[in-house]
Amino acid sequence: DVMKELLGLKDLEKKVKSLLPVEEVIIVAGDSDLSPWVKKEMGRACVACMKEKLSDQSIVAVTGGTTMAAVADMMMPDPKQHGILFVPARGGLGEHVENQANTICAKMAEKATGNYRLLHVPDHLSQEAYQSLIEEPAVKEVLQLIKSSNIVVHGIGDAITMAERRKTSREDMEKIKQRHAVAEAFGYYFNQAGEVVHKVQTIGIQLEDIKRVQHVIAVAGGASKAKAIKAYMKQAPRSILITDEGAARALTGEP
Ligand code: G3H
Repeated sequence: DVMKELLGLKDLEKKVKSLLPVEEVIIVAGDSDLSPWVKKEMGRACVACMKEKLSDQSIVAVTGGTTMAAVADMMMPDPKQHGILFVPARGGLGEHVENQANTICAKMAEKATGNYRLLHVPDHLSQEAYQSLIEEPAVKEVLQLIKSSNIVVHGIGDAITMAERRKTSREDMEKIKQRHAVAEAFGYYFNQAGEVVHKVQTIGIQLEDIKRVQHVIAVAGGASKAKAIKAYMKQAPRSILITDEGAARALTGEP
């Protein structure tokens, strides 16, 4: 569109796309680290993108975080799309309720006048609890829906920021730091090469499952996330990246 041409964002999108192994890049003006409304703009861009990819009966898996909350805020009903089902991508990761995937999933469904199913799983699961929970019929059913999702929409965070925000144990915190984690997405922590160095024990979608999902949309912006976006995308399943000018300029090294 005209505005994007004027701001040079189209060129920036091309540059970012040439740097990262992604399918598509969408950039909104501004830097969400500095201006909170930029996050809403990414939310708006994400909703528009989802609208293109959604069809009747689509299953959408969503993660948590403030960026995903902004996506939920911008969600609108589409009379052409019925029967869309929203599910949380993974169980609890230690976030405050407003940042939890369950909360965001329910809000998205409400705003889109779709349906939703939730995952009622505690944040810190022992191996035994995990094994018995995944055998529960109600949990199994939702897990089945999650694994058959056609669209995954997720945030990407800076590893240390995310580990600090969540109730991460001292042990795990050490591990995350020692292994030089720089990025986080769906409870997985990645180093600069995009390798998984730590994973939060919870149920739901696994990294391998995402490779089979038709459309993967990553939404993350702010100059402070450039390093995380770059690292995560190195080995990520081919995704559509929705970001902002702040992150994009930091990524390309442009002023
Ligand atoms: O799961 C959380 C994301 O990785 C990042 O969260 O959108 O609040 O920065 P955020």
